[in-house]
Amino acid sequence: MPRLFFYPVALLPLLSTLLCSCASPWQSTISTGTSLQVDRGKVLLVSPDTTFSCGFYPSGNSTNAFYFSIWFTHATDKTVVWTANPCSPVNGQGSRISLNREGNLVLTDVNDSTAWESKTGWGKHTTVALLDTGNLVINDSTGKTVWQSFDLPTNTLLPTQHLTRANKLVSQSDSYHVLYFDNDNVLRLLYNGPDITSIYWPSPDYNALQNGRTRFNSSKIAVLDREGKFLSSDGFKMIASDSGLGIQRRITIDYDGNFRMYSLNASSGNWSITGQGVQQMCYVHGLCGKNGICEYSPAGRPRCTCPPGYKMVDPENWDRGCKPTFSIQCGQPQEDFQFVKVPHGDFYGFDLTSNKSISLGECRRICLESCMCISFTYKAGEGLCYTKNVLYNGQVYPYFLGDNYFKLPKSVSSTSPAANHPGITCSPERSKVMVVSADAYIKNSDHISWAYLYIFAAILGAVELFFIMTGWYVLFKMHNIPKSMEEGYKMITSQFRRFTYRELVEATGKFKEELGKGGNGVVYRGILGDKKVVAVKKLTDVRKGEEEFWAEVTLIGRINHMNLVRMYGFCSEGQHRLLVYEFVENESLDRYLFDGRGTERLLSWGQRFKIALGTARGLAYLHHECLEWIVHCDVKPENILLTREFEAKIADFGLSKLSERDSSSLNFTQMRGTTGYMAPEWVMNLPIDAKVDVYSFGVVLLEIVTGSRVSSGVTVDEDEMGLMQIPSGATEGGEGVGFMQFVQAVKQMLANGAELDIVDARLKGHFNHKQATVMVKIAISCLDERSKRPTMDQIARNLMECDDEDYHPAYF
Ligand SMILES: *[C@@H]1O[C@H](CO)[C@@H](O)[C@H](O)[C@H]1NC(C)=O
Ligand SMILES: *[C@@H]1O[C@H](CO)[C@@H](O)[C@H](O)[C@H]1NC(C)=O
Ligand SMILES: *[C@@H]1O[C@H](CO)[C@@H](O)[C@H](O)[C@H]1NC(C)=O
Ligand SMILES: *[C@@H]1O[C@H](CO)[C@@H](O)[C@H](O)[C@H]1NC(C)=O
Ligand SMILES: *[C@@H]1O[C@H](CO)[C@@H](O)[C@H](O)[C@H]1NC(C)=O
Ligand SMILES: *[C@@H]1O[C@H](CO)[C@@H](O)[C@H](O)[C@H]1NC(C)=O
Ligand SMILES: *[C@@H]1O[C@H](CO)[C@@H](O)[C@H](O)[C@H]1NC(C)=O
Repeated sequence: MPRLFFYPVALLPLLSTLLCSCASPWQSTISTGTSLQVDRGKVLLVSPDTTFSCGFYPSGNSTNAFYFSIWFTHATDKTVVWTANPCSPVNGQGSRISLNREGNLVLTDVNDSTAWESKTGWGKHTTVALLDTGNLVINDSTGKTVWQSFDLPTNTLLPTQHLTRANKLVSQSDSYHVLYFDNDNVLRLLYNGPDITSIYWPSPDYNALQNGRTRFNSSKIAVLDREGKFLSSDGFKMIASDSGLGIQRRITIDYDGNFRMYSLNASSGNWSITGQGVQQMCYVHGLCGKNGICEYSPAGRPRCTCPPGYKMVDPENWDRGCKPTFSIQCGQPQEDFQFVKVPHGDFYGFDLTSNKSISLGECRRICLESCMCISFTYKAGEGLCYTKNVLYNGQVYPYFLGDNYFKLPKSVSSTSPAANHPGITCSPERSKVMVVSADAYIKNSDHISWAYLYIFAAILGAVELFFIMTGWYVLFKMHNIPKSMEEGYKMITSQFRRFTYRELVEATGKFKEELGKGGNGVVYRGILGDKKVVAVKKLTDVRKGEEEFWAEVTLIGRINHMNLVRMYGFCSEGQHRLLVYEFVENESLDRYLFDGRGTERLLSWGQRFKIALGTARGLAYLHHECLEWIVHCDVKPENILLTREFEAKIADFGLSKLSERDSSSLNFTQMRGTTGYMAPEWVMNLPIDAKVDVYSFGVVLLEIVTGSRVSSGVTVDEDEMGLMQIPSGATEGGEGVGFMQFVQAVKQMLANGAELDIVDARLKGHFNHKQATVMVKIAISCLDERSKRPTMDQIARNLMECDDEDYHPAYF
C-alpha cells in the first residue's frame, strides 16, 4: 500500500521542539501564536491516549498535496476521520498552520492564500487541543470551547459526536452521497449527483412510519455511543455486531454511497464492518450512472452492467454510466425497432407516461409511437406500463415483479445482460440474494484502500432494515417529493404496512374470534380502524431474525393476484410476529368438499371447475409470473379459501420461508407440507422445486373431481418428519399404499375411457364431461415422476381451453 504513510517517530521530537515545552513526548495542545510549517506530513497533535493524531495528511493521488486532518494513529491505514480542507489541499512545502493572535486556527498555502480557517472569533487567548474522542477543540482562556471539529464532520462520525440539523456526512472523493436530517426530521441518504438528485434511504416508497421512523421528534440528533449503539431521534438505530465498551468505532459514509459502522481490531489495526445502513447495495442511487444497471452476481455481490445495445461511457468509471451504440431518429418507421427484454429490470423515476391495466402489446405500442421513449417497464400482474426517456438508478432485482424493455433499432444486435435468475425453489438459499449482501460495492478499487477490510458480521436484530422493494418516483429537488410518488408502483404497495402489536390487539378484540389454526399459527378475525375486516395470523414458529422476517414479509406483501390471498401488512415487535391478510368470506375448500354432506354445501360442477382454474392460475402466478421462485410447498384444500362467489384464493404462500431454521440447503429438517399432498421428492431427499406444488395440485384436483379425500391429509411439521412412515413396497415414498393403488386405478380407468366413473356421485351426473376428462388427465400427469409433470402455467392454459364460461381475466 504505497499510499499509506507512516509518520516516523523520529519526526516527533523534532516537532516538540517547535512547540511549547511539555512533559509528554507527543503534543496534545498548542497555544496562541504558534505557527507550524508543513514538512511533508507532519504530526501536529496527538491525543493524550494516542488514539488520534492530527496534522498534515498526504492526498491520495499527489505527492505534494496535503490535507489538514485527524486520523486514527493505530489503524494500519491511518484512517482519516476529519479533514479541514477536503476541497483545497495545500502544498507540501511552505504551507503553514497557525493559531493567530485572534484565536483563529488558519491553514495557509505556500503562496499566502488561506486554504481554511476555523473562524473562531477575535481577541481571545485560545488553545487548541486534540481530545481522546478525536475532537479537535479550540478553548478560550476560561476553558470554554469556542470551536470544535465535531461540529463539522466530513465523512465520518465518531462516538459521542453529534449528527445534527446543522451538519451532515458527505462521501469523500465525489461528494455525491449525503447522510443528513431532512426537513421532516427523518435521517436520510441522498444521492446528489451531477444530473439528478434523489433520496434512496430509507425507502422512498414508504412513508416514515412504514419505514419504522418518526417525523415527530424535531430534535434531529443522531449519536454513536461508546458501546456501538447508533441512535437517531427519528427512531433509527444501528447496533454494532460487536457492541460493548473498549472498541474503537466509527461510522463512515463510503465511496459507494452506503454508510457503515466499523470496529477497529486493536491488535491487527484492521477495520471490520459491524453494521451498515443500506442492506441492498443496488438500492443506492447513482451507483451505475446514467443508463447503467445494478445487479447481483450469483454470489450476491452487486455489479454494474450496461443494457443491451449500450456500452460504458468511460470504461474506468461507472459514475459516467452507459451510452447507446445507436441513435434513434424521430420519424423512423416503427418496424425498424425491436424490444429487448431485461427480466426483472427497472429504472427508478423519470416516467414519460404511466398507464394502468393495459396489455404488454399496448405498452409496447405507446413506446413505439413516442420517439422520446427509449425504454419501458411493464408489470404484467397489474398491467402497469411506464415509458421512459431518461434512465437512472437501474437495477435488475429478481424480486421485482416487472420487466424492462429496451427499444433498439433492429440493426443493433443485442443480448440481455447476464442477469441473475435464481431457479424455483423452496430453499432458503435464494433468499441470500435479497437479504444482506455483505460485500462492499467496489466502484473503483484504485481509490479504495479499505476494500480489503470487509468481513461480514451479522447485524441482525437491532439494525433497522432497509426495506426491500422497488419503485419509482421523481425527485428533482432535495426536499420536494412530488405528489406523483403516491401513484404508480406505490398503488400496489400502498395497502401494505407495518402494524403495531397494540393495533392488532385492538383490531382482534384481544384475539377473541379464532378463524382457524394451521401449521404456522392461529388465525383471528379482526376489524381495522377503517372498518376493513381482516384475518390476523399469529405466527408461532418464526425463527427468522427481525430483518429477514421483514424482508420476506415485505416481499410477500407485494404479491397481488386475484387468486392469492392479499397480505395487508405485518407486525414485528419483540417476540410477536403477526401477518394481516384480507378476510376471505367463505371457508376453505376442504369444508365444502369433505365436510358438508348436506346439499346446501355441495359445490356445483361449475364452481369446482372455477376453483380448480383459479388455484392453477394463482400457483402459475407464483411460479412463473411474479417471482420465479415462490413455491408454496403446502398446497391442499385447507389452504384454498373461497370468496362469496366461490373464487379460489390461495393462502399461506411464501410462509415456508419464514419458518426456516437456518440457511443450509434444504433437507428433512426444513420439510414442510402435509402427507398425502407431498411429492415423493420430499421423502427421497431430492432437490425441491416448483414441481412439488404441481404434485400437490394434482392431488387437490382429484379431490375436487371426486369430492372425497383421496389423500391421507395429515399435517406434518418439520419436527415430526421422523414419524412419517414410508410404506413398504411403495416405490416413490410418502404416500400410503392405498393412494398409489387409487392412482393406478384411475390410470386404468383413463386407459379404458372410464375416467368419468370417479366424478363425485353427489353431482348426479350434472357435470361437464370434457372438463372432467381434462381435469382427471391433468391430475394424473401431475402425479407422475417429477420431470414428466407439467408446469402450472401449462395446466392453467389447458384448463382455460376447456373453460366454457368464456371468462378470461388477463393473465394468460
Ligand atoms: C487528485 O484528486 C483530486 C480530488 O481528490 C483531483 O481534483 C485532482 O485532480 C487529482 N490530481 C491528480 C494529479 O490526479
Ligand atoms: C495559491 O495556490 C493555490 C494552489 O496551490 C491556488 O489555488 C490559489 O489560487 C493560489 N492563490 C493565490 C492568491 O495565488
Ligand atoms: C477544552 O474544553 C473541553 C470541554 O469544553 C475540555 O474537555 C478540554 O479539556 C479543554 N481543553 C483544554 C486544553 O482546556
Ligand atoms: C427526541 O429524540 C431525542 C434524541 O434521541 C430524545 O432524547 C428525546 O427524548 C426524543 N423526544 C421525544 C418526545 O421522543
Ligand atoms: C484481530 O486480529 C487478530 C490478528 O489478525 C486476530 O487473531 C483476532 O481474531 C482479531 N480479533 C477480532 C476481534 O477480530
Ligand atoms: C490486515 O489486513 C491486511 C489486508 O487484508 C492483511 O494483509 C493483514 O494480514 C491484516 N492484518 C492482520 C493482523 O490480520
Ligand atoms: C395511457 O395514459 C394516457 C394518459 O396518461 C392516455 O392518454 C392514454 O390514452 C393511455 N393509453 C392507453 C393505451 O390506455
